[in-house]
Amino acid sequence: MDVSKLMFRPGLMDGQRILVTGGGTGLGREMTEAFLKLGATVHICGRRAAKAQETADALIEAHGGTVVAHGCDIRDADAIDAMIDAIWEDGGALTGVVNNAAGNFISRTEDLSINGFNAIADIVFRGTFYVTHNVGKRLIAEGRKASFLSILTTWVWNGSAFVVPSAMSKSAINTMTQSLAVEWGRYGLRFNAIAPGAFPTKGMSARLAPGGRGGNDMSGGNPMGRVGEMHELANLATFLMAPGAEYVNGQTIAIDGAGYQANGGTFWGALSHLGDEEWEQVRAMIKGTNEKDKAERTA
Ligand code: HXC
Repeated sequence: MDVSKLMFRPGLMDGQRILVTGGGTGLGREMTEAFLKLGATVHICGRRAAKAQETADALIEAHGGTVVAHGCDIRDADAIDAMIDAIWEDGGALTGVVNNAAGNFISRTEDLSINGFNAIADIVFRGTFYVTHNVGKRLIAEGRKASFLSILTTWVWNGSAFVVPSAMSKSAINTMTQSLAVEWGRYGLRFNAIAPGAFPTKGMSARLAPGGRGGNDMSGGNPMGRVGEMHELANLATFLMAPGAEYVNGQTIAIDGAGYQANGGTFWGALSHLGDEEWEQVRAMIKGTNEKDKAERTA
Protein backbone atom coordinates (compact mmCIF):
# COMPACT_ATOMS: atom_id res chain seq x y z
CA MET A 1 0.00 0.00 0.00
CA ASP A 2 1.13 3.54 -0.70
CA VAL A 3 0.96 4.93 2.85
CA SER A 4 1.34 8.48 1.53
CA LYS A 5 -2.28 8.13 0.38
CA LEU A 6 -3.59 7.65 3.92
CA MET A 7 -5.86 10.64 4.51
CA PHE A 8 -5.61 10.94 8.29
CA ARG A 9 -3.20 12.82 10.53
CA PRO A 10 -0.28 11.02 12.19
CA GLY A 11 -1.05 10.07 15.80
CA LEU A 12 -4.81 9.82 15.19
CA MET A 13 -4.84 6.30 16.60
CA ASP A 14 -2.32 6.76 19.42
CA GLY A 15 -3.38 4.67 22.41
CA GLN A 16 -5.74 2.48 20.36
CA ARG A 17 -5.38 -1.28 20.73
CA ILE A 18 -6.87 -3.16 17.83
CA LEU A 19 -7.19 -6.84 16.94
CA VAL A 20 -7.31 -7.60 13.22
CA THR A 21 -8.24 -11.24 12.57
CA GLY A 22 -6.52 -12.58 9.50
CA GLY A 23 -4.18 -9.60 9.78
CA GLY A 24 -1.14 -11.44 8.41
CA THR A 25 -2.28 -11.37 4.81
CA GLY A 26 -4.56 -9.68 2.28
CA LEU A 27 -6.87 -6.89 3.32
CA GLY A 28 -6.14 -7.54 7.00
CA ARG A 29 -2.48 -6.75 6.49
CA GLU A 30 -3.31 -3.50 4.69
CA MET A 31 -5.61 -2.29 7.48
CA THR A 32 -3.03 -3.32 10.06
CA GLU A 33 -0.43 -1.21 8.29
CA ALA A 34 -2.71 1.84 8.26
CA PHE A 35 -3.63 1.55 11.95
CA LEU A 36 0.03 1.06 12.90
CA LYS A 37 1.15 4.01 10.82
CA LEU A 38 -1.43 6.18 12.60
CA GLY A 39 -0.19 5.14 16.05
CA ALA A 40 -2.27 2.13 17.11
CA THR A 41 -0.93 -1.03 18.71
CA VAL A 42 -2.20 -3.84 16.52
CA HIS A 43 -2.66 -7.52 17.36
CA ILE A 44 -3.03 -9.81 14.36
CA CYS A 45 -3.92 -13.48 14.19
CA GLY A 46 -3.93 -16.15 11.54
CA ARG A 47 -3.81 -19.90 11.18
CA ARG A 48 -0.31 -19.60 9.77
CA ALA A 49 1.52 -18.22 12.80
CA ALA A 50 4.79 -17.82 10.90
CA LYS A 51 3.03 -15.76 8.22
CA ALA A 52 1.49 -13.48 10.86
CA GLN A 53 4.88 -13.08 12.54
CA GLU A 54 6.54 -12.29 9.21
CA THR A 55 3.97 -9.54 8.62
CA ALA A 56 4.41 -8.14 12.13
CA ASP A 57 8.19 -8.02 11.67
CA ALA A 58 7.95 -6.39 8.24
CA LEU A 59 5.49 -3.71 9.35
CA ILE A 60 7.47 -2.85 12.49
CA GLU A 61 10.60 -2.56 10.39
CA ALA A 62 8.80 -0.21 7.97
CA HIS A 63 6.95 1.97 10.48
CA GLY A 64 8.13 1.24 14.04
CA GLY A 65 5.44 0.81 16.70
CA THR A 66 3.92 -2.45 17.92
CA VAL A 67 2.33 -5.31 16.02
CA VAL A 68 1.87 -8.56 17.96
CA ALA A 69 1.30 -11.78 16.01
CA HIS A 70 -0.81 -14.70 17.29
CA GLY A 71 -1.32 -18.14 15.77
CA CYS A 72 -5.06 -18.74 16.12
CA ASP A 73 -7.77 -20.50 14.14
CA ILE A 74 -10.96 -18.55 14.85
CA ARG A 75 -12.99 -21.73 14.34
CA ASP A 76 -11.71 -22.76 17.79
CA ALA A 77 -13.46 -20.82 20.58
CA ASP A 78 -10.97 -22.03 23.22
CA ALA A 79 -8.02 -20.87 21.12
CA ILE A 80 -9.71 -17.46 20.79
CA ASP A 81 -10.20 -17.26 24.55
CA ALA A 82 -6.50 -18.02 25.14
CA MET A 83 -5.46 -15.41 22.59
CA ILE A 84 -7.70 -12.72 24.05
CA ASP A 85 -6.39 -13.57 27.54
CA ALA A 86 -2.87 -13.05 26.23
CA ILE A 87 -3.82 -9.72 24.65
CA TRP A 88 -5.41 -8.48 27.87
CA GLU A 89 -2.35 -9.56 29.85
CA ASP A 90 -0.10 -7.74 27.41
CA GLY A 91 -1.31 -4.15 27.91
CA GLY A 92 -5.00 -4.40 28.78
CA ALA A 93 -8.30 -4.11 26.96
CA LEU A 94 -8.75 -3.77 23.23
CA THR A 95 -10.33 -0.60 21.87
CA GLY A 96 -11.32 -2.20 18.59
CA VAL A 97 -11.73 -5.43 16.65
CA VAL A 98 -11.67 -5.90 12.90
CA ASN A 99 -13.40 -9.15 11.91
CA ASN A 100 -11.48 -9.72 8.72
CA ALA A 101 -10.57 -13.44 8.74
CA ALA A 102 -12.55 -15.34 6.12
CA GLY A 103 -12.57 -18.39 3.92
CA ASN A 104 -14.16 -18.79 0.54
CA PHE A 105 -13.88 -20.65 -2.75
CA ILE A 106 -15.98 -20.78 -5.89
CA SER A 107 -17.96 -23.97 -6.40
CA ARG A 108 -21.25 -25.11 -7.79
CA THR A 109 -23.38 -25.59 -4.72
CA GLU A 110 -24.38 -29.11 -5.79
CA ASP A 111 -20.69 -30.05 -5.69
CA LEU A 112 -20.21 -28.95 -2.07
CA SER A 113 -19.89 -31.50 0.72
CA ILE A 114 -21.08 -30.74 4.23
CA ASN A 115 -17.42 -30.37 5.20
CA GLY A 116 -16.96 -27.85 2.41
CA PHE A 117 -19.90 -25.83 3.65
CA ASN A 118 -18.66 -26.03 7.22
CA ALA A 119 -15.09 -25.03 6.32
CA ILE A 120 -16.47 -21.63 5.30
CA ALA A 121 -19.37 -21.27 7.73
CA ASP A 122 -17.16 -22.21 10.70
CA ILE A 123 -14.72 -19.41 9.88
CA VAL A 124 -16.99 -16.63 8.68
CA PHE A 125 -20.27 -17.25 10.52
CA ARG A 126 -19.24 -18.98 13.75
CA GLY A 127 -15.66 -17.74 14.13
CA THR A 128 -16.61 -14.09 13.69
CA PHE A 129 -19.27 -14.47 16.36
CA TYR A 130 -16.84 -16.24 18.74
CA VAL A 131 -14.34 -13.37 18.51
CA THR A 132 -17.00 -10.67 18.84
CA HIS A 133 -18.71 -12.41 21.75
CA ASN A 134 -15.47 -13.07 23.63
CA VAL A 135 -14.16 -9.50 23.34
CA GLY A 136 -17.60 -7.93 23.81
CA LYS A 137 -18.28 -9.72 27.09
CA ARG A 138 -14.96 -8.56 28.54
CA LEU A 139 -15.53 -4.96 27.48
CA ILE A 140 -19.04 -4.90 28.93
CA ALA A 141 -17.74 -6.31 32.24
CA GLU A 142 -15.07 -3.60 32.37
CA GLY A 143 -17.32 -0.78 31.16
CA ARG A 144 -15.10 0.06 28.20
CA LYS A 145 -16.03 1.47 24.80
CA ALA A 146 -14.88 -0.01 21.51
CA SER A 147 -15.46 -0.19 17.78
CA PHE A 148 -16.13 -3.47 15.96
CA LEU A 149 -15.76 -3.61 12.20
CA SER A 150 -16.60 -6.62 10.04
CA ILE A 151 -15.38 -7.08 6.48
CA LEU A 152 -18.32 -8.34 4.44
CA THR A 153 -19.23 -8.22 0.74
CA THR A 154 -22.01 -6.60 -1.26
CA TRP A 155 -23.53 -10.11 -1.57
CA VAL A 156 -25.09 -9.52 1.83
CA TRP A 157 -27.72 -7.51 -0.08
CA ASN A 158 -28.28 -9.63 -3.18
CA GLY A 159 -26.72 -13.06 -2.52
CA SER A 160 -24.19 -14.59 -4.89
CA ALA A 161 -24.22 -17.71 -7.03
CA PHE A 162 -21.24 -20.09 -6.73
CA VAL A 163 -20.13 -18.75 -3.31
CA VAL A 164 -23.28 -19.65 -1.38
CA PRO A 165 -21.71 -20.59 2.01
CA SER A 166 -19.78 -17.30 2.02
CA ALA A 167 -22.80 -15.24 0.96
CA MET A 168 -24.96 -16.90 3.63
CA SER A 169 -22.35 -16.49 6.37
CA LYS A 170 -21.51 -12.89 5.56
CA SER A 171 -25.22 -12.03 5.47
CA ALA A 172 -25.47 -13.42 8.98
CA ILE A 173 -22.62 -11.19 10.11
CA ASN A 174 -24.40 -8.25 8.53
CA THR A 175 -27.36 -9.12 10.73
CA MET A 176 -25.06 -9.45 13.74
CA THR A 177 -23.72 -5.96 12.99
CA GLN A 178 -27.21 -4.45 12.94
CA SER A 179 -28.39 -6.39 15.98
CA LEU A 180 -25.45 -5.74 18.28
CA ALA A 181 -25.24 -2.09 17.24
CA VAL A 182 -28.59 -1.77 18.98
CA GLU A 183 -28.17 -4.22 21.86
CA TRP A 184 -24.64 -3.20 22.86
CA GLY A 185 -24.83 0.45 21.80
CA ARG A 186 -25.81 1.26 25.37
CA TYR A 187 -22.40 -0.04 26.50
CA GLY A 188 -20.54 2.21 24.09
CA LEU A 189 -19.78 -0.70 21.77
CA ARG A 190 -20.47 0.10 18.15
CA PHE A 191 -20.69 -2.17 15.16
CA ASN A 192 -20.15 -1.32 11.53
CA ALA A 193 -19.16 -3.22 8.42
CA ILE A 194 -17.48 -2.62 5.09
CA ALA A 195 -18.61 -4.39 1.93
CA PRO A 196 -15.62 -4.24 -0.41
CA GLY A 197 -15.86 -5.00 -4.10
CA ALA A 198 -12.80 -6.35 -5.87
CA PHE A 199 -9.58 -5.59 -3.98
CA PRO A 200 -7.46 -8.39 -5.43
CA THR A 201 -5.34 -10.33 -2.93
CA LYS A 202 -3.39 -13.54 -3.32
CA GLY A 203 -5.78 -15.63 -1.20
CA MET A 204 -8.84 -14.30 -2.94
CA SER A 205 -7.54 -14.63 -6.50
CA ALA A 206 -6.41 -18.20 -5.89
CA ARG A 207 -9.87 -19.24 -4.71
CA LEU A 208 -12.24 -16.97 -6.57
CA ALA A 209 -10.46 -16.74 -9.93
CA PRO A 210 -8.05 -19.72 -9.92
CA GLY A 211 -5.65 -19.63 -12.84
CA GLY A 212 -7.61 -16.67 -14.17
CA ARG A 213 -10.43 -19.14 -14.82
CA GLY A 214 -13.78 -17.44 -14.96
CA GLY A 215 -12.53 -14.32 -13.24
CA ASN A 216 -15.50 -12.44 -11.95
CA ASP A 217 -17.80 -9.61 -12.84
CA MET A 218 -16.52 -7.42 -10.06
CA SER A 219 -13.73 -5.65 -11.95
CA GLY A 220 -14.79 -6.15 -15.57
CA GLY A 221 -17.78 -3.91 -16.11
CA ASN A 222 -17.09 -1.79 -13.05
CA PRO A 223 -18.37 1.75 -13.68
CA MET A 224 -15.01 3.15 -12.61
CA GLY A 225 -13.16 0.77 -14.92
CA ARG A 226 -10.87 -0.55 -12.22
CA VAL A 227 -10.55 -2.57 -9.03
CA GLY A 228 -10.13 -1.01 -5.59
CA GLU A 229 -6.85 0.33 -4.28
CA MET A 230 -5.76 -0.74 -0.83
CA HIS A 231 -5.37 2.75 0.61
CA GLU A 232 -9.03 3.41 -0.24
CA LEU A 233 -10.14 0.48 1.88
CA ALA A 234 -7.67 1.38 4.64
CA ASN A 235 -8.95 4.97 4.78
CA LEU A 236 -12.56 3.82 5.19
CA ALA A 237 -11.59 1.28 7.84
CA THR A 238 -9.64 3.95 9.71
CA PHE A 239 -12.60 6.32 9.62
CA LEU A 240 -14.73 3.64 11.28
CA MET A 241 -12.13 2.53 13.83
CA ALA A 242 -10.51 5.82 14.86
CA PRO A 243 -11.95 8.23 17.42
CA GLY A 244 -14.11 11.03 16.05
CA ALA A 245 -17.14 9.48 14.37
CA GLU A 246 -18.53 7.35 17.18
CA TYR A 247 -22.13 8.12 16.26
CA VAL A 248 -21.75 5.92 13.15
CA ASN A 249 -23.26 2.65 14.37
CA GLY A 250 -25.05 -0.25 12.70
CA GLN A 251 -23.97 0.59 9.15
CA THR A 252 -22.60 -1.51 6.32
CA ILE A 253 -20.79 0.66 3.79
CA ALA A 254 -19.94 -0.56 0.29
CA ILE A 255 -16.65 0.42 -1.33
CA ASP A 256 -16.88 -1.03 -4.81
CA GLY A 257 -16.95 1.82 -7.34
CA ALA A 258 -20.73 1.21 -7.65
CA GLY A 259 -20.01 -2.22 -9.17
CA TYR A 260 -22.83 -3.74 -7.20
CA GLN A 261 -25.37 -1.26 -8.51
CA ALA A 262 -24.06 -1.69 -12.06
CA ASN A 263 -23.78 -5.45 -12.37
CA GLY A 264 -24.66 -7.10 -9.06
CA GLY A 265 -20.99 -7.68 -8.15
CA THR A 266 -21.40 -11.45 -8.34
CA PHE A 267 -19.93 -14.42 -10.21
CA TRP A 268 -23.00 -15.34 -12.22
CA GLY A 269 -21.94 -13.75 -15.50
CA ALA A 270 -18.44 -15.19 -15.44
CA LEU A 271 -19.15 -18.70 -14.16
CA SER A 272 -22.64 -19.70 -15.21
CA HIS A 273 -21.40 -21.16 -18.51
CA LEU A 274 -18.73 -23.46 -17.02
CA GLY A 275 -19.21 -27.17 -17.60
CA ASP A 276 -18.24 -30.26 -15.58
CA GLU A 277 -14.70 -30.40 -16.89
CA GLU A 278 -14.01 -26.74 -16.19
CA TRP A 279 -15.36 -27.04 -12.66
CA GLU A 280 -13.06 -30.05 -12.16
CA GLN A 281 -10.10 -27.90 -13.18
CA VAL A 282 -11.20 -25.06 -10.90
CA ARG A 283 -11.54 -27.44 -7.98
CA ALA A 284 -8.09 -28.94 -8.59
CA MET A 285 -6.45 -25.53 -8.70
CA ILE A 286 -8.13 -24.41 -5.47
CA LYS A 287 -7.18 -27.68 -3.81
CA GLY A 288 -3.54 -27.05 -4.67
CA THR A 289 -3.68 -23.65 -2.96
CA ASN A 290 -5.44 -25.05 0.10
CA GLU A 291 -2.87 -27.85 0.49
CA LYS A 292 0.00 -25.39 0.21
CA ASP A 293 -1.51 -23.07 2.83
CA LYS A 294 -2.27 -25.97 5.12
CA ALA A 295 1.35 -27.10 5.09
CA GLU A 296 2.33 -23.71 6.53
CA ARG A 297 -0.14 -23.85 9.41
CA THR A 298 0.88 -24.39 12.97
CA ALA A 299 -2.31 -23.27 14.66
C1 HXC B 1 -15.44 -27.99 -3.43
C2 HXC B 1 -13.95 -27.82 -1.66
C3 HXC B 1 -13.14 -26.93 -2.40
C4 HXC B 1 -13.55 -26.62 -3.74
C5 HXC B 1 -12.25 -27.18 -0.43
N1 HXC B 1 -13.36 -27.94 -0.46
N2 HXC B 1 -12.08 -26.55 -1.61
N3 HXC B 1 -15.10 -28.34 -2.16
N4 HXC B 1 -14.72 -27.15 -4.19
N5 HXC B 1 -12.84 -25.80 -4.51
C6 HXC B 1 -13.85 -28.81 0.59
C7 HXC B 1 -12.87 -29.95 0.82
O1 HXC B 1 -13.04 -30.96 -0.16
C8 HXC B 1 -13.29 -30.42 2.19
O2 HXC B 1 -14.45 -31.20 2.15
C9 HXC B 1 -13.66 -29.11 2.86
O3 HXC B 1 -13.90 -28.15 1.83
C10 HXC B 1 -12.55 -28.62 3.74
O4 HXC B 1 -11.40 -28.49 2.96
P1 HXC B 1 -10.00 -28.18 3.63
O5 HXC B 1 -8.99 -27.88 2.57
O6 HXC B 1 -9.66 -29.27 4.60
O7 HXC B 1 -10.39 -26.89 4.45
P2 HXC B 1 -9.55 -25.96 5.31
O8 HXC B 1 -8.11 -26.35 5.38
O9 HXC B 1 -10.25 -25.83 6.58
O10 HXC B 1 -9.58 -24.60 4.46
C11 HXC B 1 -10.61 -23.69 4.55
C12 HXC B 1 -10.95 -23.15 3.17
C13 HXC B 1 -9.76 -22.53 2.44
C14 HXC B 1 -12.07 -22.13 3.37
C15 HXC B 1 -11.46 -24.32 2.31
O11 HXC B 1 -10.20 -21.97 1.23
C16 HXC B 1 -9.06 -21.45 3.24
O12 HXC B 1 -8.28 -21.76 4.12
N6 HXC B 1 -9.29 -20.19 2.91
C17 HXC B 1 -8.73 -19.03 3.62
C18 HXC B 1 -8.36 -17.90 2.69
C19 HXC B 1 -9.42 -17.53 1.74
O13 HXC B 1 -10.33 -18.29 1.44
N7 HXC B 1 -9.34 -16.31 1.21
C20 HXC B 1 -10.31 -15.84 0.26
C21 HXC B 1 -11.30 -15.05 0.99
S1 HXC B 1 -12.25 -14.12 -0.13
P3 HXC B 1 -14.42 -32.85 2.19
O14 HXC B 1 -15.83 -33.25 2.10
O15 HXC B 1 -13.59 -33.26 1.00
O16 HXC B 1 -13.76 -33.21 3.50
C22 HXC B 1 -13.66 -13.79 0.69
C23 HXC B 1 -14.71 -12.89 0.09
C24 HXC B 1 -14.26 -12.15 -1.09
O17 HXC B 1 -13.88 -14.21 1.73
C25 HXC B 1 -15.30 -11.20 -1.53
C26 HXC B 1 -14.94 -10.51 -2.79
C27 HXC B 1 -15.96 -9.49 -3.18
